Amino acid sequence: MSSSEQLIIFDTTLRDGEQSPGASMTRDEKVRIAKALEKMRVNVIEAGFPIASQGDFEAVQAVATQIKDSTVCGLSRALDKDIERVGEALKPANSARIHTFIATSPIHMKEKLRMSPEQVLEQAVHAVKKARQFTDDVEFSPEDAGRSDADFLCRVIEAVIDAGATTINIPDTVGYNIPMQFGALMRDLLNRIPNADKAVFSVHCHNDLGLAVANSLSAVLNGARQVECTINGLGERAGNAALEEIVMAVRTRQDVFNCDSRLDTTQIMTCSKLVSGITGFPVQPNKAVVGANAFAHESGIHQDGVLKSRETYEIMRAEDVGWSANHIVLGKHSGRNAFRTRLKELGIEFA
Ligand code: KIV
Ligand code: ZN
Repeated sequence: MSSSEQLIIFDTTLRDGEQSPGASMTRDEKVRIAKALEKMRVNVIEAGFPIASQGDFEAVQAVATQIKDSTVCGLSRALDKDIERVGEALKPANSARIHTFIATSPIHMKEKLRMSPEQVLEQAVHAVKKARQFTDDVEFSPEDAGRSDADFLCRVIEAVIDAGATTINIPDTVGYNIPMQFGALMRDLLNRIPNADKAVFSVHCHNDLGLAVANSLSAVLNGARQVECTINGLGERAGNAALEEIVMAVRTRQDVFNCDSRLDTTQIMTCSKLVSGITGFPVQPNKAVVGANAFAHESGIHQDGVLKSRETYEIMRAEDVGWSANHIVLGKHSGRNAFRTRLKELGIEFA
């Protein structure tokens, strides 16, 4: 990595990803995916929501037992019984994080929680203090932050950092935000919260308007230093920000970002295929980075350009994300150079 700051990659394929209807995974499948994520050098693996079921508890415990080089995280509502369950599941971990959340938007507080803002603030602080009894690594999320009042967010976040939260995650829970506005929110929080320097600020975006990656990157440009994401963009409803897109955007555009992840990007394809195979969720052919066509060239002009100099039409090397190489597809738009090259590969030479 260069001298730029570290961007922490927090993978939530095993938790938010599993919330995709039809994407449930067994304990052993979760362990297989966690090992692939660890090999890719993901910083934090959110393994599940232990209070949700006995199966989820056992999966988090199994991941915590097997993973040594990534921090293993478990999710909990801001409730003592949830936090105690996560604490128990994470006992075997080398490095354990508790992620606790409570909603802060007016609609969630009024309609879902039926709590006043003051009660929410008090419960958030209590939850963080409780989580700190199990580990020094505590993340707090004000759920639906993207639709919360900024002044109230500032009060809650300042209080939970004082209570011991070390990561503050800003979720756009319903995928409502727009990149400029979401980046401005991140900047505003970092500027206004007096103890903001005592925590890492994180981002967690959903893809309801197809903006999860753009919103996450806008937050990074405005000071976030952790991104929560999933392999292939799996996740609740339209999904989360896709890990492979975040990581490759930041790595490819080092002229724009003053941070980078520690990931071994050559493991991306292995992780993508593993998650797709286990969940049965196919990857669309034109999906960025991991789609079958992401490095395929069909038109004659593009093929001729790539054969002469790869950079004419490619901004990343296929090998850098784990593909064996780019490929030239012979179709009705192909040209002479591609045809001649393919014949040569087949050992057929023209005079
Ligand atoms: O989308 C969301 O708000 C979440 C939280 C639990 C972080 O998944
Ligand atoms: Zn989410």
